[in-house]
Amino acid sequence: MSESSQFLTTNNPAAEWWRTSVIYQIYPRSFADADGDGLGDLKGITSRLDSLASLGIDAIWFSPFFKSPQKDAGYDISDYRLIDPIFGTNEDFEILLEKAKSLGIRIIVDIVPNHTSDQHAWFQAAINSAPGSSERAYYHFKDGKGVNGELPPNNWQSIFGGPAWSRITEADGSPGQWYLHLFDSSQPDLNWENPAVADEFDEILRFWLRKGVDGFRVDVAHGMVKRAGLPDATIYDENLRERPISNLTMQEAEEAVPYWGQPGVHEAIRRFRRVIDEFEDRAMCAEASMSPLPRLAMWVRPDEYHQSFNFDYMHGEYDPAAIKKIVTDSIVEYTKVGASSTWVMSNHDGIRHATRLGIAPENTPRPGDGIHPTDPAPDEALGLRRARAATSFMLGLPGSSYLYQGEELGLPEAWQLEGKYRQDPTYARTKGERIGRDGCRVPLPWEAGVGAANGFNTTGESWLPQPANYRVFSRNLQEGVAGSTLELYKRLLKERKLFGLGAGAFRWADEYQDKNTLAYINNGVLVLMNFGPDAIALPAGEVLVTTQHDLTAERELEHDQVVWIKL
Ligand code: GLC
Repeated sequence: MSESSQFLTTNNPAAEWWRTSVIYQIYPRSFADADGDGLGDLKGITSRLDSLASLGIDAIWFSPFFKSPQKDAGYDISDYRLIDPIFGTNEDFEILLEKAKSLGIRIIVDIVPNHTSDQHAWFQAAINSAPGSSERAYYHFKDGKGVNGELPPNNWQSIFGGPAWSRITEADGSPGQWYLHLFDSSQPDLNWENPAVADEFDEILRFWLRKGVDGFRVDVAHGMVKRAGLPDATIYDENLRERPISNLTMQEAEEAVPYWGQPGVHEAIRRFRRVIDEFEDRAMCAEASMSPLPRLAMWVRPDEYHQSFNFDYMHGEYDPAAIKKIVTDSIVEYTKVGASSTWVMSNHDGIRHATRLGIAPENTPRPGDGIHPTDPAPDEALGLRRARAATSFMLGLPGSSYLYQGEELGLPEAWQLEGKYRQDPTYARTKGERIGRDGCRVPLPWEAGVGAANGFNTTGESWLPQPANYRVFSRNLQEGVAGSTLELYKRLLKERKLFGLGAGAFRWADEYQDKNTLAYINNGVLVLMNFGPDAIALPAGEVLVTTQHDLTAERELEHDQVVWIKL
């Protein structure tokens, strides 16, 4: 038997829910707006939950809706136990949770332990206390270098651009210590070497677990613990972002980028895990931008996270050999540590895949950079066709899949947004050089022509304006329409569940594959993807679902199309 026709997973009907779920990410600012102020809210979400149930998802992950000055769209939290009034109240959340449970939908909330808002009471207490105080010990406060402490303590750079340190003015008006912020200056990094910080988070987790949430997505899960002494970074691309480390050994990477993937982070994770395990059937997913895969797999060992996002899959090339390798490596590496793989194509930090896949690889911006309105226009028809194919390929894989709101409509990136609307701190911190992530965060179109925001609310207000081309993607224009992206997603999710593909027995199907196609079999379902250029003959068997709306037994599968066939 050739290596690639062996089963890489075996059928596991008793799999825990997170191993097989389809988890839909809601970006609360942009999902649905009940009060019409232009910013989404919890009541809006509750009113639209039925449509998610009809889509067929298993769980929702909410990007943060906690009290926040909204300097980084809610990833700057000033109170971890309170819903921000712009989204509603804690009671609104309880109502939402109850309705979701009644529909059989689990709820995952986003926890941000790497940093708080500078408006958090802990940070306010820190800047109002003396250097060396226990209040300052919640964060990374350091004296500056230089004769008068006028230089930052080390060379680290913010992920959003510019230095990762800002200097405060002490209570007596003198220039003071510096504090670390790997992201915006409004997001000071917590000091996880301080046991008091870990104690606080134990209680924050318990607070939401007692309310009945099913789990957490953990933000910047690879960055919480910094290397002792905060030494200079030695790998240095302009922004010291994470990608270049993938070619190094583990130890080299830990030394080169002293704030990502440090060994100490695993102790913090194990502590989270112990809290989670006090409750039944709960799970955590790590946002750990770590490469290569064997290193990332360390985050999901049995006493750490339950799963982690597979960013190598998301950022991978649209190419059969590349996809085959990343899928195989993912299953193999995660299986070694007893975890299941996750799959994802889009989220609130990247270019929507319906647009991304329409950009030539050499023009593809780096993750988080966004498309500049002056960049060459993406081929949106090709992008959408490939996105539908890529998702149809992904949803047949074993493991769990993450979907980002709006992708079920085939929504493109709003890359033409003018600078005056841009709110991502990356835009301001790089003076517009990196355009940032707003283009994937524009409110959803629900009903074509209902206000300027197509039913996002009835007032037409919208914190980021929808581009003109969003109207045709409105949900009501796709509902019940054969061949629409929405109906494709519904069908995929239905068949996926019916055939138990999340926990399925998976192998590559060499017998159906050549250099321009990929094929696998999962629980008796053949998933075949044609990357083109030529159309290919359709194998025998019942077509369960296909991206090629008019596919019949006499027809051939065209380029950038997928079919699921029951063998
Ligand atoms: C994560 C979030 C991103 C946020 C950053 C800082 O990467 O996904 O949206 O800006 O962390 O919290």
